[in-house]
Amino acid sequence: MNIVVIGVGYVGLVTGLGLAKLNHTIQFLDTDFQKIDKLKNKISPFYEPEIENYLNDNEIVSRSSFESEYNEINWDDADIVMICVQTPSLEDNQIDTSYLVNVFESITDFVDEKTVVCIKSTIHPEAINSTIDSSKFSYDQIVFNPEFLREGSAFQDFFNPDRIVIGATKETNAKKIALLYEEIDSEIILTDPLSSQLIKYLSNAYLPLRLSFVNEASQIIKKLGGNLNETLNGIGLDTRIGKQYFRPSPGWGGSCFPKDVAELNSIASSQDLNTPLISNIIESNTQHQIWFAEYLIDQKRNNDLKNIYLIGLAFKEDTDDTRCSPTIFVHEILRSNNENVFIFDLNNESFGEYDLHSEFKEDSLIVEMFPLNQKSTTEIQDKLNQINKFKYLRYWE
Ligand SMILES: NC(=O)c1ccc[n+]([C@@H]2O[C@H](COP(=O)([O-])OP(=O)(O)OC[C@H]3O[C@@H](n4cnc5c(N)ncnc54)[C@H](O)[C@@H]3O)[C@@H](O)[C@H]2O)c1
Repeated sequence: MNIVVIGVGYVGLVTGLGLAKLNHTIQFLDTDFQKIDKLKNKISPFYEPEIENYLNDNEIVSRSSFESEYNEINWDDADIVMICVQTPSLEDNQIDTSYLVNVFESITDFVDEKTVVCIKSTIHPEAINSTIDSSKFSYDQIVFNPEFLREGSAFQDFFNPDRIVIGATKETNAKKIALLYEEIDSEIILTDPLSSQLIKYLSNAYLPLRLSFVNEASQIIKKLGGNLNETLNGIGLDTRIGKQYFRPSPGWGGSCFPKDVAELNSIASSQDLNTPLISNIIESNTQHQIWFAEYLIDQKRNNDLKNIYLIGLAFKEDTDDTRCSPTIFVHEILRSNNENVFIFDLNNESFGEYDLHSEFKEDSLIVEMFPLNQKSTTEIQDKLNQINKFKYLRYWE
């Protein structure tokens, strides 16, 4: 099929390249011409494992084109328009649908009623109505296909999803989207638009809830002097609980969990619901990061050290996405406590107001913020060999 993918961020670019690998023809469109220029030169605008292989695969390249203007797209050929723009939270935790609304306005004159408009962006149920009502499109023309890929393993997740969720009011359009994935071995859930997005939002609330549970559990285990790994292993071996997604960390972050949980809370309160568990997921994460910063200060003091290095600016391993990164938050807390704290990152020299370091000083507590890959571990080990007094901390061990 011929697909126009709008937005070449983490979701749009990976999904489009994955679909091109499955023999579909993709016209990528993004108003950020710098990203498009890079892609025309086979350079990814962000880091994601395997992405270079896709951008340099001749067959995929022959089925892909990259444009930054709506009028450069060959709309007549398009069977599906797939919208993958960002849907961030506003300050009051309401969803910012302005990017999506802009896209609807831009495609109005180009897309006729035969083309299926597929929304991959996360947009919560209440916002769906107002967004669609303000466009010329009808509910029947729109299909929701929320995305569940994880940065860092995005291609793996694209080709091996746990499920594919499709929400639509018109069955033929839902089936057209399902056809895109016919070569992928996964259960397809065909449902209504509202339920499709509730699956997305409630999954994105449960996952950080689980991470926050394990983080609070880790505080209890550490405080009482228990063995962290053995205790968590003993809990996770219960098949009702399971060991996946059960690693303690300095905190969770990223572009999705914080905003999706905040929006879910805002929906629940707009419906006068009392949901104390879901309402406190974000607060638990904030408190855990504050606790973690204090834990680091204790570790520094107890080991008679002077500096703290936080390794890794991104919000987790195998990505360069720094949105809501726990490293940034913990760094801020430590800095406000007048600690000598530095962010160490092998890939970046500076980021916004943060000076990034790629060497260590003596007398330092060195903190891995998420598990590093083998290459980074070796490089860091070489740098550690050059200093005498330090303590290396991996919280989850
Ligand atoms: N990043 C993830 O891991 C992930 C996972 C699942 C779902 N999602 C959801 O998918 C959506 C996209 O997320 P992302 O991380 O890929 O976002 P992103 O910010 O990385 O990319 C969005 C892209 O859309 C482009 N864009 C914005 N307005 C445009 C317009 N009017 N026309 C053309 N292009 C436009 C931007 O320039 C940008 O390149 C969000 O709703 C997010 O919640 C993200």
